[in-house]
Amino acid sequence: MRMRAIEVTEYGESDVLEYVERDAPDTDEGEVLIEVEAAGINFADIMQRRGVYPDGPEPPYVPGMEVSGTVAEADDVAAYSEGDRVVAMVDRGGYAEYAVADARTLLPFPDGLSASEAAGFPVQFLTAHSCLFEWGGLEEGERVLVQAAAGGVGTAAVQLASNTGAEVFGTASAPEKLEHAAAHGCDHPINYEETDFRDVIDDKTDGEGVDLVLESVGGDVFDRSLDALGHFGTLVTYGVASGMPAKASNQRLLFENKTVKGFHLGQASRHDPTKVMKAVPDLTDGLESGELEVVVGEEFALEDAGDAHAFIEDRDSIGKVVLRP
Ligand SMILES: NC(=O)c1ccc[n+]([C@@H]2O[C@H](COP(=O)([O-])OP(=O)(O)OC[C@H]3O[C@@H](n4cnc5c(N)ncnc54)[C@H](OP(=O)(O)O)[C@@H]3O)[C@@H](O)[C@H]2O)c1
Repeated sequence: MRMRAIEVTEYGESDVLEYVERDAPDTDEGEVLIEVEAAGINFADIMQRRGVYPDGPEPPYVPGMEVSGTVAEADDVAAYSEGDRVVAMVDRGGYAEYAVADARTLLPFPDGLSASEAAGFPVQFLTAHSCLFEWGGLEEGERVLVQAAAGGVGTAAVQLASNTGAEVFGTASAPEKLEHAAAHGCDHPINYEETDFRDVIDDKTDGEGVDLVLESVGGDVFDRSLDALGHFGTLVTYGVASGMPAKASNQRLLFENKTVKGFHLGQASRHDPTKVMKAVPDLTDGLESGELEVVVGEEFALEDAGDAHAFIEDRDSIGKVVLRP
């Protein structure tokens, strides 16, 4: 069977994404073939395309690590039949009309969600939930700072933290992003282009700082996030959107009793899937009841994947960006 897909033909800017026709992928034992209704775009897709992602795929390859759609073939997998609607995390291959997923990684398609919302749920909500609670230990009444609070993971994190009763600080680069963060539960939206977030946090916490930081930018934002962290606080680092890895001084950490933890969804799932997947039922309930929302900021046609990447890289996106084959 032939299908339309996006290929990364070589590492580079968004114009290396090519719209091609190619064979649909074959399934192995324990895998299902999914007819893709929507594919989520993640910042990691961009870093892989640039060739700067550790152990990223080599061109040519079809990018995309999460999809929603309908099971098209489930020959070896008793738990699924043709026509079942599912959500899947895949290693790659999501930007296509058909994608293959290990049946053990399939998630239920939350009732009432559109295909785009369902595709936008797994990576960003599981990342936000893991960083806040399993890694960050956030509890009601604590203070948390979410960097890039209007982005995909950021929007999920702000909602989850706010629903837990935490006091939420969030940064973003533009007024409409800050309005978006505030509308989803951010108590203290901070425009970092205009104000130093450390000053705001200092001011609002009488110099105590926050209990937890979710840090995804790297470079000096990582350093300044450590400054904003209070004594006994934890910083969870889970991204390097700036492309600049950062270091924490052990001397500093020990004198300030601060903890830095790293989180990577793919690696965590490989080493111990239960650590991250145990959040799925609660997240699905939250999405179905309307307590949580996948905010799809923009949808692009599959053939416009390059424009979609450029849109995110230009920092124009709010919430989740998805592709529709
Ligand atoms: N470890 C994991 O398992 C995991 C899983 C998912 C995502 N992530 C990471 O989490 C971060 C957010 O991912 P996402 O997919 O939800 O993306 P996103 O937040 O929707 O987009 C990235 C945002 O980062 C901010 N940013 C700050 N400096 C930037 C720079 N130099 N270039 C581009 N953006 C910059 C921008 O927001 P402002 O304009 O408001 O600053 C931008 O909108 C990324 O770093 C991603 O790699 C990690």
